[in-house]
Amino acid sequence: MHADFWLNRWENNEIGFHEREANPLLVKYFPNLSLKKSSRVFLPLCGKTRDIAWLLSQGYSVVGAELSQLAVEQLFSELCAEPKIIQQGALRLYRAKNLDVFVGDLFQLSRSMLGSVDAIYDRAALVALPEEARRHYSAHLMKITESVPQLLITYEYDQSQMDGPPFSISREEVEQHYAQPYQVKHLSRTEATGSLRKRIAAQEEVWLLTSHTY
Ligand SMILES: C[S@@+](CC[C@H](N)C(=O)[O-])C[C@H]1O[C@@H](n2cnc3c(N)ncnc32)[C@H](O)[C@@H]1O
Repeated sequence: MHADFWLNRWENNEIGFHEREANPLLVKYFPNLSLKKSSRVFLPLCGKTRDIAWLLSQGYSVVGAELSQLAVEQLFSELCAEPKIIQQGALRLYRAKNLDVFVGDLFQLSRSMLGSVDAIYDRAALVALPEEARRHYSAHLMKITESVPQLLITYEYDQSQMDGPPFSISREEVEQHYAQPYQVKHLSRTEATGSLRKRIAAQEEVWLLTSHTY
């Protein structure tokens, strides 16, 4: 997906993927990561998700990465947070209390820029990307985070019936991306809700990725 595709979606407010409240699957399954409060959680391709507000309210520190400056400005405005903006190489860091969001291309974000994180939460990130980009994404994500535990939400549906995004991801594909170095545990499979439900019958899957010694 070209950057313009997403930037135009934000410009035109075509953000059917955005949910008004924290994702119920996040609320239900996040405790499976067994994180200490104040842990730093990374949300790649974060948009302006309300999941960030929920994580902050639970006492976590959040770091996100998002292509669209408009999305990030809306995010901070909706959180009533005034960001300090710091240029970091090709990216811009928007910073407020317990919240860092990098604006720009995730693939320009290095491990040292990101800093240490304790977990990853991927909702609508892996599924937002076409197949080849997904391979680069998962490899890059593991590289910049040192493969910390991850809560991953994906969709599965008949890809011949609809073009993504979101794209359909099979169990085999999740394992291709993450079986090394993670232990991949399937937590739940439910009917997809929200804007996707209007387009196609899809299943929403939740995965817990942990190290083998976790
Ligand atoms: C389907 S949306 C999901 C947003 C958010 N995770 C949520 O649940 O609402 C995908 C987001 O990824 C962003 N994006 C796409 N490619 C990106 C890239 N290479 N680097 C950073 N963000 C990107 C888009 O601008 C868009 O906001």
